[in-house]
Amino acid sequence: MANDESILLDIKNLKTNFYLSEGTVHAVNGASFSLSRGETLGIVGESGCGKSVMARSILGIVPAPGRVVDGQIRYYRRVGSIEEELELTELDPKGHLMRSIRGLEISMVFQEPMASFSPVHTIGEQIVEAIQLHQPFTGREAYHQAIEILSRVGMPEPSRTFDRYPHELSGGMCQRAMIAMALSCHPSLLIADEPTTALDVTTEAQILRLMRDLQKKLGMAILFITHNLGVIAQMTERVIVMYLGRVVEDADVDTLFYHPLHPYTQALLQSIPRLGQRTRDRRRLTSIQGMVPHPYQIPPGCPFHPRCSQQIPGVCDQQNPPWLQMGASGAAREHWVRCVLYA
Ligand SMILES: Nc1ncnc2c1ncn2[C@@H]1O[C@H](COP(=O)(O)OP(=O)(O)OP(=O)(O)O)[C@@H](O)[C@H]1O
Ligand SMILES: [Mg+2]
Repeated sequence: MANDESILLDIKNLKTNFYLSEGTVHAVNGASFSLSRGETLGIVGESGCGKSVMARSILGIVPAPGRVVDGQIRYYRRVGSIEEELELTELDPKGHLMRSIRGLEISMVFQEPMASFSPVHTIGEQIVEAIQLHQPFTGREAYHQAIEILSRVGMPEPSRTFDRYPHELSGGMCQRAMIAMALSCHPSLLIADEPTTALDVTTEAQILRLMRDLQKKLGMAILFITHNLGVIAQMTERVIVMYLGRVVEDADVDTLFYHPLHPYTQALLQSIPRLGQRTRDRRRLTSIQGMVPHPYQIPPGCPFHPRCSQQIPGVCDQQNPPWLQMGASGAAREHWVRCVLYA
């Protein structure tokens, strides 16, 4: 983690549950990490490990019957030259402040772009609305801003796209339009939740390049959630690995790929699909032995122990593994792991 001055988001012991009649789903179960200004942080982990719920918790958009039940989400916002510390878990998710943070300062790109647009309004109308929601622009100014952002995301013929409906655009174009909408207010943080999983490889490469370029220009931080470790390698500087709602390893991207410590991370890396195996379907990492247990029943001790080839009986099934810093403390690139093997 970088020095405190540059911290943008600091999440500690976050817990988000869903209360269902069958039981309580511990979707995020004590996750901690921080993110610096302008940094690109990847989040990886198998399906169901709580990546999307964590993203939604940050934005205060966890759907019922879910809610954040514990922990902190400190957000260090800058308004002009003033820096202000906000505890997002204490804000009313529907209140004025949270609504203005959402969209204006922190915005999100979802996997399914169609689902983020209303089918009955044109792309342009929706971007203009997003712009005017937070900024005192006249209709004309907002129009010009929308056209500019559409051309910035590489949309051919932005003024024609402005008048199109979402269903008239291809998947790649719709994804670009959603990124345009997410960026229309120059957020300090963009949360991208599998933004390219539904796209073909060529369009995916274009969108990723676009996001990198825009990040350089606008200096925003990106939280990049994906199953695709190849995308992580291309896009991120640092990566956190999640398992059953917790962060089990936190390292810079090279360290994570070349010196993974947690047995779960090691197994994930071994499960990278070979080149050419990619399909249009949403890809799942499934080749680790055993299944992810359902978060109704998180195993005691280290939640990964039933699937871990290196588990120590009597220890891993009983002790909550410590969060350990590896290497020199205060090093520019810190490496953390949650596993008794390194205690
Ligand atoms: N609306 C909901 N109601 C009940 N349970 C939910 C809801 N949304 C998510 N969950 C549960 O919370 C857990 C975490 O889900 P989440 O969507 O965050 O996983 P994920 O890591 O994003 O998975 P994927 O890689 O498939 O997107 C899962 O067990 C999921 O079933
Ligand atoms: Mg998800």
